[in-house]
Amino acid sequence: MTTKKKLIAGNWKMNGSLAANEALVKALLQGVGTPACEVAVCVPAPYLAQLQSLLSGSPIALGAQDLSAQPQGAFTGEQSAAMLKDFGVRFAIVGHSERRQYHGETDEGVAAKTAAALANGITPIVCVGETLAEREAGHTAEVVKRQLAAVIHVNGHCISEIVVAYEPVWAIGTGKTATPELAQSVHALLRAQLHHAADEHAAGIRILYGGSMNAANAAELLAQPDIDGGLIGGASLKAPDFLQIIAAAR
Ligand code: 13P
Repeated sequence: MTTKKKLIAGNWKMNGSLAANEALVKALLQGVGTPACEVAVCVPAPYLAQLQSLLSGSPIALGAQDLSAQPQGAFTGEQSAAMLKDFGVRFAIVGHSERRQYHGETDEGVAAKTAAALANGITPIVCVGETLAEREAGHTAEVVKRQLAAVIHVNGHCISEIVVAYEPVWAIGTGKTATPELAQSVHALLRAQLHHAADEHAAGIRILYGGSMNAANAAELLAQPDIDGGLIGGASLKAPDFLQIIAAAR
């Protein structure tokens, strides 16, 4: 059990428009007050400038959904950590399962992106999680430990600066949430692994849960001792739902 502030981060994925973003953020800012937790929204790259302006001076931090491991140069379509920093980005999701699945991201690549974020003062939200096949084969612990080990290997003691997100792939966008007990058991494994790598700093590392977290199940998940926040997809696009999740994180 730790006393750090929880983090509620929305992952908008590839959703939004100038008009929809403005309406969503206005509703969030109207309802958010002074939250007990940290709050961030991770938005599509083309909207960073818009969101930087909309969120300026507000309690909601700006996040990105990915970044390049490279500092600059001939990498068509990529965004560097320094570019994100130019727009006031504080968090960047790294190694989301959708990027691992559709863009061939490897554990090593995710570790390199984590290093690039840390080198530029951006907090990486490093995602780990097993597929349904891996869970059914009894490989959950092995998979999430392997994914996190690669990040620890490259980043050493700097991992005390990261955020980890456990997102079981079978729970993402499916409406199938991990039970609080099941999620807690994986979070405890990850905490032990972090403890091994970062000693006493491990207790301060936030481990978020993600995968069909919503207004109805958030409080119970967030009550688990090693669940330090949430990474929310679908429910982060609806202001009343996201606000309820924020309110549940204390
Ligand atoms: P859902 O909340 O839509 O299941 O998405 C979770 C997720 O992938 C957040 O990164």
